[in-house]
Amino acid sequence: MELAGKRILLIVAGGIAAYKTLDLVRRLGEAGASVRAILTRGGAQFVTPLSLAALTGEKVYEDLFSLTDEAEMGHIRLSREADLLVVAPATADLLARMAAGLADDLATTTLLATDKPVLVAPAMNVRMWLHPATQDNMALLARRGVAVIGPDDGAMACNEYGPGRMAEPPAILARIAEMLAPGSAPGSAEARPLAGRRALVTSGPTHEPIDPVRYIANRSSGRQGHAIAAALAAAGADTVLVSGPVTLPAPTGVTLVPVETARDMLAACRAALPADIAVCAAAVADWRVADAAGQKLKKSGDGPPPLDLVENPDILADLAAAGPVRPRLVVGFAAETEQVVAHGEAKRRRKGCDWIVANDVSPATGTFGGTDNTVHLLRADGVESWPAMSKSEVGRRLAAAIAAALAADTPAADTPAAAAVRRA
Ligand code: C5P
Repeated sequence: MELAGKRILLIVAGGIAAYKTLDLVRRLGEAGASVRAILTRGGAQFVTPLSLAALTGEKVYEDLFSLTDEAEMGHIRLSREADLLVVAPATADLLARMAAGLADDLATTTLLATDKPVLVAPAMNVRMWLHPATQDNMALLARRGVAVIGPDDGAMACNEYGPGRMAEPPAILARIAEMLAPGSAPGSAEARPLAGRRALVTSGPTHEPIDPVRYIANRSSGRQGHAIAAALAAAGADTVLVSGPVTLPAPTGVTLVPVETARDMLAACRAALPADIAVCAAAVADWRVADAAGQKLKKSGDGPPPLDLVENPDILADLAAAGPVRPRLVVGFAAETEQVVAHGEAKRRRKGCDWIVANDVSPATGTFGGTDNTVHLLRADGVESWPAMSKSEVGRRLAAAIAAALAADTPAADTPAAAAVRRA
């Protein structure tokens, strides 16, 4: 009963994911929380007040100007008598109205009137989520301290694929428990254990040009690296995300440095030093074409052009050997298809990094491009094998492990040595 005695005010807006919210209510009840629900007009198109009332055991609130509701329980009291407000699903429209500070129905009025922590679980079509209007609204809400979970990637009701699915009820429940844990009020040291730290994350593939229109690349989606950057930023770290070409938006609160090639990525990483933490999750191309053609290569009768390949710089090994400006904790990834732990450990030693997150990327696991990951955290003192979980959860657990490892350490300072590395 990890939520015994906790009071959740749940706002259910109009999205198909509202059916999952009923499961969330059931789980909250099982965890000991009491739930009061506000159902928006859109929300009532997807779930009935009766289902919510049956599951919460409480009256469901729908109308700002209902005389009986206001007499029984005004919107101020609804918020005052809650420990946490949860908006699930949070539609693009409701998020926009929250960002604008509108108060034109019971849900938005309560959200504007509250001084309690707020968690939103966005759910919408992928293009609505990626639209700059929604992304700007999310950035604004994050700056105001609104916590966000998801959206997850996956197939959507509208037959499209991408970020936009509401986070699953167990993940929302876990986040609620985290937010209500003693001492984890937003802004507290427990909630932002990496405040004052600088983090550098690499993500995505690199593109290595063959000529102005062709390049060598790989299938990395950037999902894991972006999730780690998001988790480090949420934990309070000042986070630079150096990413190769991906279709993902920059996570909230992260400084994105977009790059194309391995050499660009290395230069951007060096420029981001000093840092306390470096996590290299990018799938950097091992080789590049020695002399990329300045003009598009033409087909000739002599068969394909010879491509002379040369090795790319190893960014992880470079950061791990950065001497006086070496980040305190350098974390690499090892994508393996067999003997995952043994090969990962060999890589940890070879690259000189502190930790390796070793994951099984054999095609059967669906890790590459998928939403879940099964990883082993390899450190000098042993191996921790984590169960299969979403890439966002891997990011959060890794950020928590990093915060624990750095707890006793002083933050990195800018020094003449760091400036020299940046110039190199
Ligand atoms: O050598 P391998 O590519 O298997 O090593 C994987 C780890 O090294 C990942 O952390 C990856 O980001 C990093 N790496 C790198 N620069 C390279 C190659 C790999 O930072 N050129």
